[in-house]
Amino acid sequence: MDRVVSGMRPTGVPHLGNLQGALRKWVELQDSYESFYFIADWHALFGLEERSREIKQNTKSALATLLAIGLDPEKSTIFVQSQVPEHTILFTIFSAITPTGWLGRNPTLKDMVRADEPLPYGLLGYPVLQAADILLYKGTLVPVGKDQMPHLEITREIARRFNSMYGVEYFPEPQAVLNESPVLPGIDGRKMSKSYGNIISIEDDFETIKSKVRLMITDPQKIRKSDPGHPDICTVFQMEKSFVSTEYAEDIFAKCVQGALGCVAHKDSLAKIIWEYLSPIREKYFYYMSHPEELVKVANYGAGKARKIAAQTIEEVLDITGVVL
Ligand code: TRP
Repeated sequence: MDRVVSGMRPTGVPHLGNLQGALRKWVELQDSYESFYFIADWHALFGLEERSREIKQNTKSALATLLAIGLDPEKSTIFVQSQVPEHTILFTIFSAITPTGWLGRNPTLKDMVRADEPLPYGLLGYPVLQAADILLYKGTLVPVGKDQMPHLEITREIARRFNSMYGVEYFPEPQAVLNESPVLPGIDGRKMSKSYGNIISIEDDFETIKSKVRLMITDPQKIRKSDPGHPDICTVFQMEKSFVSTEYAEDIFAKCVQGALGCVAHKDSLAKIIWEYLSPIREKYFYYMSHPEELVKVANYGAGKARKIAAQTIEEVLDITGVVL
């Protein structure tokens, strides 16, 4: 029986790229599998760029988002990583068996380090903690973005090494579950990402969304409405495709190419589409943000469920490694 595990770093107010990326899969998978979803606040602490940021506030915002998009605390186990101390115990055990060479070669490391700062030991071990997150629940399916593939590979290597060192078939080798849909572009056309400053966030109101969409680049060759456009190079169209049906997208495509749709009108209609998608999500999100006691309740409930399984794993692992009497 497969088990789904995934985590999200609390690094800011979630944005459309998060919602249309991995999180969409999370919601989909919770109906078919036993699923564990958590806010990876230790990972935020390990990241250099997050050090000064409000991890606590961002954790609330991430949790409110998970509930707002339809994750159900009864169907899934939803929790905050730091509330389940077993994550750090398994991290310690894996630290004992993970060669530093694997971590030094981790291709995501160079994106995380900064030239003007020393590399913290914890940041080097980022993938080891991630392996602990997944294997603590014996997860087999991990819905994440493509950028996480190297971490998943290290997770499998750690599982394999543990099993072979101790002569057991204990940990499974988890697989990534990737989202088939293309990466959502941000308002500058690059991948939507907080570090690029090109996001539409869950907290943006209609006017903000409208003015951000107005800034997007369409087709520089299309000056007048009647000029034939090239939707394939238009960021507005690329973003729109993520929210509408194929038929709708084909219709817009045709109108743009025929010169029947102007870019300003196109932008305003995209802003409306995004707003219609986001409104009900925002309503729930802001409800939870203004009822922190309910977030605490959800987090405690989820941590309780997670700890039952986590404690069992740690007991078995300590027995296998022979550390405890
Ligand atoms: N590293 C992941 C990211 O930045 C977050 C994460 C932490 C994670 N632990 C995990 C994802 C375990 C999947 C499974 O997106």
